Amino acid sequence: MRILFIGDVTGSPGRDMVQHYLPKLKEKYRPNVTILNGENAAAGKGINEKIYKQFLEWGAQVVTMGNHTWDKREIFEFIDDAKKMIRPANYPEGTPGKGITFVNINGVEIAVINIQGRTFLPAIDDPFRKMDELIKTAKERTDIIFVDFHGEATSEKQAMGWYLDGKVSAVVGTHTHTQTADERILPNGTAYITDVGMTGPYDGILGVNRDAVLKKFLTGLPVRFEIDKTGRTQLNGFFVDVNQDTGNAVNVERILINDDHPFFA
Ligand SMILES: [Fe+2]
Repeated sequence: MRILFIGDVTGSPGRDMVQHYLPKLKEKYRPNVTILNGENAAAGKGINEKIYKQFLEWGAQVVTMGNHTWDKREIFEFIDDAKKMIRPANYPEGTPGKGITFVNINGVEIAVINIQGRTFLPAIDDPFRKMDELIKTAKERTDIIFVDFHGEATSEKQAMGWYLDGKVSAVVGTHTHTQTADERILPNGTAYITDVGMTGPYDGILGVNRDAVLKKFLTGLPVRFEIDKTGRTQLNGFFVDVNQDTGNAVNVERILINDDHPFFA
């Protein structure tokens, strides 16, 4: 089972990159399932229904979210109808939306889970205990389990990778917008990367116009953060091939496309 994941799609520069490169990536990696993180897709903060539907049209089967899930007010109107959108599963009981979904590929199911860290992020429910629960639910249907762990601290993400090694097919980190070069298959068969990175502006700071961020660091004054639309763009992603009988990862590849790392078909 071949799974392609695209890291935090940020603003219109990120969406343009998905539209342009997703067909090329599909040709290269031939994924059965394509997942993308869309929590920054609408001007960097949240997502709207139009963009969610666009992602599905462009070929994503699941859209994962994170701490920015609730930033666009209209999310509350469509999240319960958005069958292929998942938000962090460890929000308290009763929160709109869901944290797990299943994709069926010719009779084979893949569970996709979104979960969020608590270090330097809002203190929601324990993601580790929540994962125990979700794995039980997923295992009733499939051994192929893909986890987007949306977290700030590299330590918390590594801890989750080791905690889930052998229990799920892949744990990919999102949120920091900075790709880490530590992709690997852990000893018990779980694919892992601390952070997949960000799809969007290449010359900003985490996707934001760098003049504003610099001003904040230099003066300490409040500034308005806007997505950088003046510079070049990038795409960050992750590919994992999973043995469909065992649920173990057999191959992983980090995907980095920018002017310094051009795309090769
Ligand atoms: Fe985030």
